[in-house]
Amino acid sequence: MMSKRIGILTGGGDCPGLNSVIYGVLLKAVDAGYQVIGIEKGWKGFLENRTRELDVTSLDDLHTIGGTLIYTSRTNPYKKAKSIQDPIGREKAIKETAELMASQVKNLKLDALIAIGGDDTLGVAAAMNKFAGANVIGVPKTIDNDLSSTDYTFGFWSAIQLASNTMDNITTTARSHQRIFIVEVMGRDAGWLTLVSGISAGTDIILIPEKPFDLQDDIVKVLRDRVDSGRKYHIIACSEGAIPTKESFDRDFTSINPQDIDKLPKDDFGNPILAKLNMSKVLVKELNSQDALRKYFQDHDVEYDIREVTLGHTMRAGTPNSFDRILGLRLGVHAVKLAMKNRYGQMVCLNGTEIGSVPLSEGAQKKLVPHTSDLLEVANLITKVKCGKS
Ligand code: F6P
Repeated sequence: MMSKRIGILTGGGDCPGLNSVIYGVLLKAVDAGYQVIGIEKGWKGFLENRTRELDVTSLDDLHTIGGTLIYTSRTNPYKKAKSIQDPIGREKAIKETAELMASQVKNLKLDALIAIGGDDTLGVAAAMNKFAGANVIGVPKTIDNDLSSTDYTFGFWSAIQLASNTMDNITTTARSHQRIFIVEVMGRDAGWLTLVSGISAGTDIILIPEKPFDLQDDIVKVLRDRVDSGRKYHIIACSEGAIPTKESFDRDFTSINPQDIDKLPKDDFGNPILAKLNMSKVLVKELNSQDALRKYFQDHDVEYDIREVTLGHTMRAGTPNSFDRILGLRLGVHAVKLAMKNRYGQMVCLNGTEIGSVPLSEGAQKKLVPHTSDLLEVANLITKVKCGKS
């Protein structure tokens, strides 16, 4: 079998398990007699020729270490092309960019490129393959778990454990002070992280982007019922992308309006930087002006004291858990197997318990929490039952 030079890059937010995939790639590639070229800083380094050969013998147990050894960035090579208003001009510019990107694979003397990333990074790879036939293979990455065609993305369960542990722990201080804690969880437009970590910790209210909330029905009423039933502290899991319904926005919100969300700064891929909004802080403000609820708490001899904790990047921090280490390794090994068979334009995925692959164009699509998800049913049951009297 001919030797190959395989390039590997990581793009988008870092995520526990990135190094596990890199190690999986290295194990299989080295065993096959291939060279692995690390491309630093995602698409940015790809365009700037920032490469170095990775030597597996100096990287023992890399799969156990968090983050990415080859750095990452949120660089979008199609940014300029995608900003073109005229659809024909835009399509042409995207094609030209894809051709330029594909020629860069050749300039770097790579036989194959493995791109590890979320929908943004993989979208770039998919267009390179679609418009210019580049030899790319995708590996789905994100703590958000919002990629279609894979049952889980690596990093998700590590992030869930971190968030769930914090929510578990926050109950002792919430209980001691009789406080309401709003815990803000990452996840821009997908609520998987908030929903699953919230259920895991048994939080009393869960707010996710896919189901806009009504401040009165989904928060004020629930808190009132909880106090009525004797509960004295409350934990709300709030996704950073959770938003009120239009009706609730107009009726209940005084500190922000929908235009404030539209005006948020955006990253290279056009995603709003929601940390700048800080929905949990907004909710603290809005709940602080709910005088009737405050009085209800006081009449029931319960403190009305609302605090927020934004988990932010702590959710992506530290070492991957065992599930993500193993998933990462398996995905990395499988990606090299696809390169060995010259099967490009594919994204490796987890399908039940098996590792398989799907066309990149399918895999790079978003997966949001469906309204029919049984997880939503579980969350709603927890909220409902924990409002009731025994
Ligand atoms: O895409 C993963 C993610 O963790 C989102 O949940 C979050 O909104 C975003 O990254 C934050 O990215 P950055 O580190 O660039 O601020």
